[in-house]
Amino acid sequence: MNIQQSLWFDPTMIFIGGARCRPGSDSTIPVENPSTGEVICAIGRGTAADVDAAVTAAEAALEGAWGRMPAVERGRILMRMSQLVLARAEELAFLESTDVGKPMKQARNDSTALARYLEFYAGAADKVHGTTIPYQDGFTVYTLREPHGVTGHIIPWNYPLQILGRSVGAALAMGNACVLKPAEDASLSSLAFASIAAEAGLPAGALNIVTGYGAEVGAALSEHPGVHHVSFTGSVGTGRRIQEAAARNVVPVTLELGGKSPHIVFDDVDLEAALPTLVGACMQAAGQTCSAASRVLVQRGIYDEVRRRMAEVYQGLEVGPAPDNRDLGPLVSKRQKEIVSSYIALGKQDLAVAGEGRIRDDAPAAGNYVAPVLFAEVPPDHRLAQEEIFGPVQVLIPFDTEADAIRIANGTEYGLVAGVWTRDGGRQMRLARKLNVGQVFINNYGAGGGIELPFGGVGKSGHGREKGFEALYGFSRLKTVTASHG
Ligand code: NAI
Ligand code: MG
Repeated sequence: MNIQQSLWFDPTMIFIGGARCRPGSDSTIPVENPSTGEVICAIGRGTAADVDAAVTAAEAALEGAWGRMPAVERGRILMRMSQLVLARAEELAFLESTDVGKPMKQARNDSTALARYLEFYAGAADKVHGTTIPYQDGFTVYTLREPHGVTGHIIPWNYPLQILGRSVGAALAMGNACVLKPAEDASLSSLAFASIAAEAGLPAGALNIVTGYGAEVGAALSEHPGVHHVSFTGSVGTGRRIQEAAARNVVPVTLELGGKSPHIVFDDVDLEAALPTLVGACMQAAGQTCSAASRVLVQRGIYDEVRRRMAEVYQGLEVGPAPDNRDLGPLVSKRQKEIVSSYIALGKQDLAVAGEGRIRDDAPAAGNYVAPVLFAEVPPDHRLAQEEIFGPVQVLIPFDTEADAIRIANGTEYGLVAGVWTRDGGRQMRLARKLNVGQVFINNYGAGGGIELPFGGVGKSGHGREKGFEALYGFSRLKTVTASHG
């Protein structure tokens, strides 16, 4: 496959009111292939006026066929989208892999995850009920679940297909009309999805897509007075700006802001079962995963063995171009490579390297390749143990007691997910309660996985829950109706 053949749409056009159109700026943003450093095409540079047009189109959809459509019909459209995604899974994966630098096998997983999100929310669309509430004699009281109206979706570049699925899928299921802003580093798969939405029969204006820069399109969307809910996945700094903008309009936000997630290994672990996951839970998408297990906390009695065994896995890790399906592809951008490389340089200055992977000799020099590094005996307060690196870097932190493990695990500003490996049932339950995170994995770790499972953080990892049935509550609002009838 080559990129020109798989662009069945013009990526310089944005998608408003069911039609592809030119952005107001009439200018473009170059798209680089992270595996080669080559510019492969361009996307449109949207403007605040385009966001305005998209919100107007969304309002019209809510006034029209989309707003009147029964929930079961919304579900059928989502189901058709799911089937069309599966039919085009390979093309979508190829676009994602070329744009983001993900090995094809991981991008294929993203395509099928998108299909699965749409399938899940298709089935859920007509199953969100209000309740009746016992009240005084002579009254009937019930609640209605209603869409917010126009919802804004600002998504990042690490899992565009998946995050589009969880965010737009749940919002459409509840009957909202969406304005989506993909990341400027990875917009191609979202633009491709526009065709699928139209082909599935989604009414014009129910989904609008405006590409462009965060400071232009993203800011305009998050502060637009016609937007009634904003969901965002990305960095803490941008999340804060989006919440501030939404606060001026007093509208709710869902923020998923990444983490520094701990993977805690007690000395009664089944190490053969844990080992592939201890490394894999951070190497997926080359560490550019919000829920990456970037801190590995290991009890002293088994620490040396875990360090040695993980180091062996690292020696075998290979980094290469996305189409070659090595363990890791390149990072998404030169900027991301610079950020991650500076953390690695700091680590090499202060810390011991336990293991390192390698970049294949045939990887193009202009690609954004970074070899994975495992650092050992890292003090819990070191910057590499506190800050989100968003690259293939893990730190090993030894601990003595269960109380130490909990204190260290909870000792960052973040709180997205945590993994715990122990055969002790009581300890499993205690940690599940005491870890300050949104999701706990016991004897497994699902970085990015689990469409059915509510997902979101505490602390600087954000607030609100996406994925699973829970997301449907976030993408709707409750109305209480009190009828007096004597
Ligand atoms: P970012 O948070 O700036 O970008 C994410 C999205 O927000 C993009 O669509 C971007 O265009 C948009 N955006 C940027 N500025 C905006 C603004 N002022 N108003 C509204 N939208 C805006 O993240 P960036 O710069 O791409 O990556 C930097 C770091 O953020 C990464 O190293 C990583 O630590 C973290 N990150 C976390 C993600 C997660 O999954 N939680 C995803 C991407 C990045
Ligand atoms: Mg790209």
